[in-house]
Amino acid sequence: MNIKIDTGMKVVMTGASGFLGQNIIEELQKKQIEINGLDRKLLYGDPNKLAEKLAGADAVINLAGAPIIKRWTSKNKAIIYNSRVLTTKNLTRAINSLPKAMQPNTFVSASAVGIYREGMVHDESSSRFANHFAARVTDDWEDALVDLPDTIRQVIFRIGVVLGKDSQFIQQVLPVFKMGLGGKIGTGKQAFPFIHLHDLVQAFVQSVTDEGYLGIYNLVAPQQIDNKTFTQILAKKLNRPAILPVPAFALKLLYGKASTLILKNPVVLPKRLEMQNFAHQFPTMESCLDQILDQ
Ligand SMILES: NC(=O)c1ccc[n+]([C@@H]2O[C@H](COP(=O)([O-])OP(=O)(O)OC[C@H]3O[C@@H](n4cnc5c(N)ncnc54)[C@H](OP(=O)(O)O)[C@@H]3O)[C@@H](O)[C@H]2O)c1
Repeated sequence: MNIKIDTGMKVVMTGASGFLGQNIIEELQKKQIEINGLDRKLLYGDPNKLAEKLAGADAVINLAGAPIIKRWTSKNKAIIYNSRVLTTKNLTRAINSLPKAMQPNTFVSASAVGIYREGMVHDESSSRFANHFAARVTDDWEDALVDLPDTIRQVIFRIGVVLGKDSQFIQQVLPVFKMGLGGKIGTGKQAFPFIHLHDLVQAFVQSVTDEGYLGIYNLVAPQQIDNKTFTQILAKKLNRPAILPVPAFALKLLYGKASTLILKNPVVLPKRLEMQNFAHQFPTMESCLDQILDQ
């Protein structure tokens, strides 16, 4: 993909064909920013070819990553790990091989709130990381950026569950709740760190265009709720019962250890976004669901 518009700024994006990538591209295009999506093969192939594609870009947005909620077999683990850590290391190496004048000014990377230990409250200063496979991948994913030149402004977004009309989570739960077959997951007490797609897109676009963004940001809404509260709000909005809980054992059977990402979650605060005066348009679950359900 190569969308060229005659303006100054050029962005190279990995994972451009994905859900977040497509939505971020739409907004960048409105700002007449040129976007080059990097083909997946380039991330694993000849480093010189990768460097060629990165040369002269103003910013890199790094979103590549294979789906993580699937059984953590050794084969899937390798795909999940390499699609984030190896690809990011390869990007870092390729950037380092470029002359300074051809290196990007900004590198914005996706990360995930799954890095944090469940059952605890975390702002960005927290180093209490979880001890499961996904958290270790996320930690290494972020670490893969340490070798980037100091001259490059780095932004890392630790993303919560993304909510939007077409987001995977909403597509999965809405039909079930509409049929009156919804319910809390497991105990329902696990935190539910979420972010509306609109706010996520704004944060990514701002991080490219506003040099005030630097370092790690929790990309979540300011409201903290648990899974049971989410269930109650959605059921009420749909005017349907939600009394059929999804038992933990069923998810464990389906996803094995990966079910921990659904059954246990950290409480996450967007402290640095708030310090940045970021204005969430959808700060609460109510406001997110009103937009999604056109209410
Ligand atoms: N959406 C969320 O709720 C959420 C929450 C937290 C973190 N994140 C992270 O944000 C990033 C983007 O999420 P998304 O929702 O846009 O995901 P997505 O729709 O699944 O898109 C992921 C992208 O990664 C690329 N990809 C898939 N498998 C790959 C592999 N084996 N090697 C290299 N690239 C691969 C795909 O590119 P091609 O298939 O075109 O090559 C695709 O463009 C992901 O890294 C995800 O972990 C998302």
